[in-house]
Amino acid sequence: MTMKPVTFTLNGATKAAFTTDGQNLLDFLRRGVGDLSPKYGCGQGTCGSCTVLVDGAPQLACLVLAETVEGKRVETAAGLAAGARLHPLQEAFMDRFAAQCGYCTPGMLMAAKALLERNPRPTRDEVIEAIGGNICRCTGYEPIIAAILDVSQGRVRA
Ligand code: FES
Ligand code: FES
Repeated sequence: MTMKPVTFTLNGATKAAFTTDGQNLLDFLRRGVGDLSPKYGCGQGTCGSCTVLVDGAPQLACLVLAETVEGKRVETAAGLAAGARLHPLQEAFMDRFAAQCGYCTPGMLMAAKALLERNPRPTRDEVIEAIGGNICRCTGYEPIIAAILDVSQGRVRA
């Protein structure tokens, strides 16, 4: 097995770790780097629970080779809060009861973050499209959509 060093930033901090041949980014983040926030759902690119941002774009970490993030900026749900202060999306998800089991939530939050960064005032249809690859078994999606719209329309408590 060949080990390959990968240096990248994770939630703003420089990280250096070794990846193995063919290791995907999800496995690398969880087992190699210790960030357990991206979740393993299907491992096949169909559930969205592993969604992270790579250079600001949402990616399914189970389908991305770890070595491809060399020199890139990776963001996960673990980096959303600033100390004890939650990210507005996290506040809105709590206020709207948008998480039940919470398994989909890290991926949903990252998909929503990417959307709001490229389009701060999305329509409801644009929100639905942005989270279209993220499967939730619990909420029926309405609370999640409402939470994302709350943030985009400034309805989140400070
Ligand atoms: S675990 Fe990656 S899409 Fe399901
Ligand atoms: S809150 Fe359970 S899968 Fe979404």
